[in-house]
This record gives sequence, structure tokens and C-alpha cells, in this order.
Amino acid sequence: MPGIVSHPIGVFDSGVGGLSVLRQIRHLLPAEDLLYVADTAWVPYGPRPPEQIRERARVVTGWLVEQGVKAVVVACNTATAAAVAGLREQFAQPVVGMEPAVKPAAAATRNGVVGVLATAGTLKSTRFAALLARFAEKIEVISRPSPELVELVEHGDINSAHAQAVVRDCVAPLLEHGADTLILGCTHFPPLRPLIEAAAGPDVAVIDTGGAVARQVQRRLAETGQLRSPDHAGRVRILTTGPVTPALPAIRAIWGEEPVPEAIAL
Ligand code: DGL
Repeated sequence: MPGIVSHPIGVFDSGVGGLSVLRQIRHLLPAEDLLYVADTAWVPYGPRPPEQIRERARVVTGWLVEQGVKAVVVACNTATAAAVAGLREQFAQPVVGMEPAVKPAAAATRNGVVGVLATAGTLKSTRFAALLARFAEKIEVISRPSPELVELVEHGDINSAHAQAVVRDCVAPLLEHGADTLILGCTHFPPLRPLIEAAAGPDVAVIDTGGAVARQVQRRLAETGQLRSPDHAGRVRILTTGPVTPALPAIRAIWGEEPVPEAIAL
């Protein structure tokens, strides 16, 4: 019956980056219980072979499903590219994935040059190639694998002079090619958005898909009558597959002090 279901929404990423998506879901759906898994024992996913990412995505999703989640959000572009099709075949729950915002960027660019910051795994994937074939026919897309940005965020280093310099180095080649629109094609990058915008300057639009993913989760749950009624106060749990202590600075920087994260063995 709509409104009385209290199963959480499961959300996962390779690490802490997906907390940027969790934030958007929390903002849009504050009545929902949220269960977030940072697969910190396996971060980063970006350089790993797709089979390995598929296996991790299957293990983490299987665990979330065992906890009774009513939907799974793959809050990771890399894991979506490698694994979302298989997850949808294997699990009955709605699985919401995410991909770089090529379509909105193609609509937003004024000079037809779009830069994509993402992981090597995303950029090499057949899903990304299909996305370009579909929406980027009339624009030029320049991409740059940016593992150094993932590393910054995993260390909670989102505001230092060092982070600024690393961000500038990542963004510079895209600007040199004339990009007037940048896609944040990795969920680790929204926490660096202020630095990316500062490096890119006021004439460059920066686009990410966290808000669109949250709206998609809302739609999928509404379709099946599984949205929790708004008079609830949803709770959030954050879990790490690696030890909690090294992940704390990043979780605090991106999410805040509460809840205290817990470690799980997966
Ligand atoms: N957050 C992930 C993404 O959206 C990947 C980061 C990584 O583990 O390399 O692609």
C-alpha cells in the first residue's frame, strides 16, 4: 500500500563520491530511509577491468537487497557503465543508474565544444560510446580521465591549494580545446565543483546529473506506489567496505558529522 512501506533506498559507489548523489536524494525525498555503501575496499573502480566492477556491483547490490531495499541507486558512472544492465537482469528491484550528462550539455553549449571529466572506465565503455553516438553528433566532445580528482575526494581534500592546482591541471586541456561546457561525469566531482568552476571561469557551464538521478528515483518509486509518506523523518546509514577511520575525513567533508559510518565486510 502506498505510503506505509519503510524499506530503505540502497545507494552505492566505489567510495565517497556517491554521497554527492545521496545528498540530492535526501534533499528531494527526506522521508525516505537511505542505506549508502561506499565500496572503499575496492576504490577506485575507474582503472579496473569491467568484469571486476560487475562482480563488485553484484556483491554490493546483493547485500543491499538482503537488507530489504526497495530500490538500488548505482551512484557511480563507472559502475553504471559496466554493470547496470546485468543488475537489472539479476535483481527484481528498480535499479537507477547514471551517465554523463551529454544530452543536456549538447543543448547547453553555445560553441559546440563540450568537455567531459570522468573515469577511464566510463570513457572507454560501450555505454558512453552509445551516448555520444546518440546525442553528440553535432558537437565536439573532448574527454579527460581524471583519477587524480577521485583521489583528492577520497582523501577529503576538496578545498586546499593542492586540490586547486590538481583541478586546474585537469580542466586546462579541456579549456584549451575551447570547451564552453563541462560535464562532471563522475560522482566524485561535484564536491570539487567550486574549484572546477573557479578554474573554468564564469563563461563555462558545469553540469552534473545528481539532481536528475534523484528525480528518477522519485519517479520510479511513485510508479510502484513505494514513496514513503512525507510525515516520516527518513534515516541515513553510511557503510564502508574498508576500514572506517581512513574514510572519515572524506565522509565528513562531503556529508557531515552524522551519521557515524559503520564498516561492513563484503
Ligand atoms: N564515482 C565513480 C564514478 O562516478 C568512480 C570513481 C572511481 O572509483 O574511480 O564514475
